[in-house]
Amino acid sequence: MSKENYINDVRPHDSAYKHVSGYAEYTDDINEPKNTIYGAIGLSKKAHAIIKKIDLSDVKKSEGVISVVTQSDISGRNDVGPVFDGDPIFPDKKVEFFGQPLFAVAATTTELARKAVLKAKITYKDLKPVITIKDALNKKQFLFKPRKIKKGNPSKKIKNSKYNLKGNFTTGSQEHFYLEGQAAFVIPKEDDNFLVYSSTQHPSETQQLIAKMFNQKSNSINVEVRRIGGGFGGKETNFMTACICALLAKKTGQPVKLRLDRDDDIILTGKRHEFLSEYEVGFNDEGIIEGLKINLSSNCGMSPDLSAAINERALLHIDNAYYISDIEVTNNLCKTNIPTSTAFRGFGGNQGMMAIENVIDNISRYLKIDPIQVRKKNFYQKDKKNITHYGMTIEDNVINEIFKNLENKSNYKKRYSEIKKFNEKNKFKKKGIAITPVKFGISFTTIHLNQAGALVHIYTDGSVYLNHGGIEMGQGTHTKIAQLVANSLGLPYNLVHISSTNTAKVPNTSASAASSTTDLNGAAALNAVAKIKLNLEKFIKKKYKIYNQEAIYKDQYIIFGNRQFEFKSIIQEAYLNRISLSSSGFYSTPKINFDKKKFRGRPFYYFCYGAAVSEVTIDTLTGENILERVDILHDAGKPINPALELGQIEGGFVQGQGWLTIEELNWKSNGQITTFSPSTYKIPAVSDIPKKFNVEIFKDGINKEKVVNKAKTTGEPPLMLAMSVFYAIKDAVASVGNYQFVPELNAPATPERILMSINKIKNKIKKKNGR
Ligand code: MTE
Ligand code: HPA
Ligand code: MOS
Repeated sequence: MSKENYINDVRPHDSAYKHVSGYAEYTDDINEPKNTIYGAIGLSKKAHAIIKKIDLSDVKKSEGVISVVTQSDISGRNDVGPVFDGDPIFPDKKVEFFGQPLFAVAATTTELARKAVLKAKITYKDLKPVITIKDALNKKQFLFKPRKIKKGNPSKKIKNSKYNLKGNFTTGSQEHFYLEGQAAFVIPKEDDNFLVYSSTQHPSETQQLIAKMFNQKSNSINVEVRRIGGGFGGKETNFMTACICALLAKKTGQPVKLRLDRDDDIILTGKRHEFLSEYEVGFNDEGIIEGLKINLSSNCGMSPDLSAAINERALLHIDNAYYISDIEVTNNLCKTNIPTSTAFRGFGGNQGMMAIENVIDNISRYLKIDPIQVRKKNFYQKDKKNITHYGMTIEDNVINEIFKNLENKSNYKKRYSEIKKFNEKNKFKKKGIAITPVKFGISFTTIHLNQAGALVHIYTDGSVYLNHGGIEMGQGTHTKIAQLVANSLGLPYNLVHISSTNTAKVPNTSASAASSTTDLNGAAALNAVAKIKLNLEKFIKKKYKIYNQEAIYKDQYIIFGNRQFEFKSIIQEAYLNRISLSSSGFYSTPKINFDKKKFRGRPFYYFCYGAAVSEVTIDTLTGENILERVDILHDAGKPINPALELGQIEGGFVQGQGWLTIEELNWKSNGQITTFSPSTYKIPAVSDIPKKFNVEIFKDGINKEKVVNKAKTTGEPPLMLAMSVFYAIKDAVASVGNYQFVPELNAPATPERILMSINKIKNKIKKKNGR
């Protein structure tokens, strides 16, 4: 690839037609051998209890039941914790959340298996469950010791500032609601080997955990994933389904399929971390933050899972796009009796960013300045104010340009004053507008995870077979990596075959996560291609006596100056001359380092930037709200496939909109979830997407680092563009009190919460007038 030659190839997702026609094969669609049987999991009906007795006699007698497994069938490690222990497959004595798996059955059909598990007789000794962050804080129930990070002297700065504000703010949990639920299909092979199909973002961890559970070597377990129907972080861990399925397969010696019912899926799998932030801030007349102290507490659920990394990412994004000279953040990782909270698009970064955006918004409203001004005043700059609270110098800052550009493009100023006029004239309907920035760091903050592998074969007919460690979850990584490979070989896209991800082909992979799948695996695939090209070029040069000429791969030819070789025939010739046409490839991200203890270093290879303007109308009598218009400008670097990036930006935004305004999970005080089906848990529907939705990729975008195609990922960052919807709603609420009061509004801003916030303002008005 010459320096300025970037792909910019709009093409549909490789499976687009199959997705819409139903031909795309998911785990549950795989052809089953004749003797396949079906699993179901028996769940705890208590959130916190000692198991006194599990009587499964009626379960065993139930129609169609072939086998039952309990913790006594696990010969090896009874835990699916990816980093730390704490997630037993079946607990030994103690139940720690409502819906915790306690046993499983295999039966002749899924329906019979599901019927059978309901016949268990379990006696418990009740313990008091801890459900909320507040409850855990009161009881000091933490998974890790609270930690503190600090830069400068925020206490002194706050004391000396002209203005001070204090407050607290929460953001809610979120259910992943992937279209394809958790599913696995395990086929026993000879010598205790197992072929595992699983709907997972992390085949390598699935392989290792099953091996450990069986006390077998990893080389006896082969995990294959063609695609998954969405993961969004919910399949980065959550290995319970695959492990239980494998356990049933081993015990029965038969192929077993285990597909969770949607309700069970919501009941037993972990979700996004709810966060509470308590802040104290000092600032000047312009709203510039002089000192900030924040206490961040998150609801981690019953075990560590990925909570340490997720909270760390929250701490790393507490600045969002703002330079904060003096800052202290304390962090509590609360242990509660709900399913272990887990990865979800944004991975804690979004929760940290919402905490600072709340502070910025409140500062603006307190000073009665348009929040856009306060945001701009606090932004990181290029040559000064460019070092983060963890000591990383930001070298690729484009937030000022993006913000300015979007402010003009969206006509923000004019609309801002029109909205003020509208609100003066209208009593019940109120409008609000907000513009918010995104700066999101790319790389796994656990440095060793930033590696990837690939395997590329060229067959003698010139067709290419591509395998890499990344998972296709709908985001289009396979399409983009095939585009990169085809481009590098000068071949049409359809000559590159995309294959299933398979632990036997590329070993020791990281989860497809942290928005890094294409960056890492694409680079590994190009590394494999480069090695094959080297073999080919050496052969051609020697045979045809070509010296010091660089090869160009274009339109199915390999060109050295004025000599041209048709790709297909030169491949055949190379084969006959015993030249290797296959290679593995590897990549590890350069430059990054991070000392987790000292909280210092360069955890991110680069940053993604974007901004969004949202305009809403709220009905002050019902709390209902309409998202009238959204304008987005997002930095995707030099996008490999702009169509797929636009899809990620739109989808990410709407998922964020759901998190901040629609989706609400609820647990009863006994730890039972009440929002466990589509009738009680609402995700955004077509009617919720913005009426006007103007999404643009930042034209001047380029990745300063050596990332494939100089692109920037669009996996997670666009989710946070939806912060603008929340603050637009808050702006509309503020108008009820003629912008004289700072609304008290937590996320999600559901109609009920909006109404309550309005009522608080109305009460404040009454109180003021009464005096
Ligand atoms: N897009 C679709 N369609 N389905 C998904 O499950 N997951 C998101 C994002 N976009 C997801 C998605 C999350 S959480 C991540 S980390 C990235 O995609 C992972 O893919 P990438 O690394 O290729 O961006
Ligand atoms: N993002 C997503 N997944 C992860 C990370 C991260 O930063 N670290 C460990 N798993
Ligand atoms: Mo994404 S939350 O890193 O799977």
